[in-house]
Formats: sequence, structure tokens, C-alpha cells
Amino acid sequence: MSSINKIRVALLFGGKSGEHDVSLLSARSVMKAIDPQKYEVLPVLITKTGEWHVDESSLQFLQGNEERVEKLANTEIDQQIAKSVQPFPSILDSEIDVIFPLLHGPNGEDGTIQGLLQLAGKPYVGAGVLASAAGMDKVIMKRLFAEAGLPQGDFVGYLRSDIDRRMDQIIVEIEERFGYPCFVKPANLGSSVGISKARNREQLIEALKLACRFDRKVIIEQFIHAREIEIAILGNDDPIASVPGEIVSKHEFYDYTAKYTDGKSELIIPAELDEQTVNKLTELAKRAFFAIDGSGLARVDFFIDRNNGEVYLNEINTMPGFTIYSMYPLLWQHTGISYPELIDRLIQLSLLRHEDLNRSESSYEQMSKN
Ligand SMILES: Nc1ncnc2c1ncn2[C@@H]1O[C@H](COP(=O)(O)OP(=O)(O)O)[C@@H](O)[C@H]1O
Ligand SMILES: [Mg+2]
Repeated sequence: MSSINKIRVALLFGGKSGEHDVSLLSARSVMKAIDPQKYEVLPVLITKTGEWHVDESSLQFLQGNEERVEKLANTEIDQQIAKSVQPFPSILDSEIDVIFPLLHGPNGEDGTIQGLLQLAGKPYVGAGVLASAAGMDKVIMKRLFAEAGLPQGDFVGYLRSDIDRRMDQIIVEIEERFGYPCFVKPANLGSSVGISKARNREQLIEALKLACRFDRKVIIEQFIHAREIEIAILGNDDPIASVPGEIVSKHEFYDYTAKYTDGKSELIIPAELDEQTVNKLTELAKRAFFAIDGSGLARVDFFIDRNNGEVYLNEINTMPGFTIYSMYPLLWQHTGISYPELIDRLIQLSLLRHEDLNRSESSYEQMSKN
């Protein structure tokens, strides 16, 4: 196939969020695996300060070999790159057929970039504006889950301004509602940044202060002593679900170090579960995907209570980690969809979604057509 017939994919990676480095690893994996006969890739590096680079250095970086985040931290990628900053609209104007925003966390997975791509009228991989934003905000996400009747632990959200004003009162409210331990998280973040398990009042105060550093909204959750099970979803209006996988973390909980740096977490795929539980999780995963109006892909994370076997939804991620070692692609691999095929399907799904969106009329001339 000549390059004329290839689908041109702009691969956006890096980004301003704390998950910049994870995104670089994901993008490298995609770059190595994407079918070169079918796709031509334009790598677009977004630096930690938010500049968009489209040049040789972003390509070179993607072809590098570091495979762990702590090594990446030393590559000083932001210093290496040439000064060929391209303002993002020119990328969107160019002859790109589809955009793959392989970005995690705020400004990547939260609807902001999706809004830009939507305005540009380009097909893009993954969730749209609403699903991205809803999946990013843990308070809104859990309200949507509640509305859909999905099982989850008790939670409450507070605005930072409210915490600033009446910390003492809020502490009492939390103690009465949840007791200890409880979980405290910034509402809009990922990769376990700013998350704490509070075991007493002193720790709760510290946890609230920490979470308030990262977001204007904080969520407090009931602690669930649980196994952590995840299911991958792929599709648009008629999605399919993968086999479930389990994360066994040697840390107190599945925190940032456990996730990305020390390799002390084990992924067990498929998770050891009875058939009934698997069926239940599969159904719940799809319902969670519909609850936020997802599209393309999502990873749905569950807790299974170690004491009584109860199933709880933890969260949905609309752009889960996407390296070849990440849970999402591994779940598909074990379900029979290889990594290159997964990339292919995601791009095709984005084109289908774009077509479907374009079916809707944007103006309405009543009667005149009758
Ligand atoms: N309510 C909870 N009870 C017990 N453990 C929790 C709870 N919430 C989070 N955790 C632990 O913290 C980890 C990160 O929390 P999560 O809500 O998944 O945040 P992130 O979006 O950063 O992945 C989870 O994978 C789990 O190990
Ligand atoms: Mg999580």
C-alpha cells in the first residue's frame, strides 16, 4: 500500500499531567506495534509545560528503549527536544485522518483535549468530552454509577473552599459517616497521586491537606478490604468485555510506586474467580461504561470484599495505561486480541464514532422539507 492510502494518525503523548511519563511509555509501545502498512504515524509530543512538538526528536524519543518510569525521569526529554514548537491548531489543520490522544490524567483524559479535537472536527480514539470528564471526576462518576444502580462503597465529596472554611466540622462528619480507616483522594487525578488511607484523626487532617493540594474537590470513601479486579471494555454502542484480571500489590495499597516504578505488583490474568462472579463483573463493567456514555475503550476497576465477597465498583478509566505491560492491553491479549489488533480496532472505532456523530443534523428547518 502506498503512503497515499495509509491512514494518517497523529499520536499525542506526554502531556501536562503527573502521568506524563506513563504516557511516553504507552506511546512507545503503540509506535512499535502499530501496523506500518496501514497507518502512518505523526508523533506529537506534549511537554510537561504544555508545548506541542512535532519534529524528529519526538520521533526519536518514541524509538528509545527505556522501559520503566524511573529511567525515563533521567532522560530529560524536555531538554532534549529541538525548539520546533508547533502551535496545536496547525496540527489539527494538517492532513491527519485520526488523532490518538494517548494522554492520561488532567488535560488528557478529562475531556479538555477531546473538546479541542471535537471542535477541530477530527475523529479521535476513545471517549468523547462528556465520558472523559465524567470518568475523571470521581465524585461525578460515582453519582452516575449510583444513578445507574451500580454497587459501590459509600462516598462523599467536599469542595476545597468548604474544607478551608470548616475543617473541624468536616472531620467530625467524616468520622461519623466512615470511621477509620477511610480513603481520601483528589476528585480529579489518577495514578494514585494525592491519595491516602487515613487511620486516625491526625492522618485524616494530613490526608485532606494533601488532597487539597491537587484539586479543588476531594472525595472521601469508605475503606474496603478487598481484592482488586479489572475488566477491559472495547467498543462503542455495543462494547465487548475482556476476561477479568487481578492486581496483587505488595504495597499497603496500589499507589504510584507500586503502579509504575518498583515492579512489585503482580497481574494475574485471568483472575481466579467463579463463573457467576465473572458474569456479574462483566455485566457491571458494561453498565459502568454506559453510565458515563463511554466510547472506544475503558478499564473498569472493581473491589471484591475479602470478608464477604461483595462486589463494588471502584472506578472507570477512559484512557488506561497502554504499554504492552499494562493491564488493559494484557487483558485483551488473554481474551484473544493482540496488541497490534487492539490499536487497529481502536482507530477503526474512532472512525465509526465520528461517522455516527456526523449523522446528526446540526440545523433544523421545520416544515420546510415536508
Ligand atoms: N475505598 C477504598 N478502599 C480500599 N482501598 C482503596 C479505596 N480506594 C482506593 N483504594 C486503593 O488505592 C488505589 C488507588 O485508588 P483509585 O481510586 O483507583 O485511584 P486512581 O484513579 O489514582 O487509580 C486503589 O487501586 C486501591 O488499592
Ligand atoms: Mg485506580
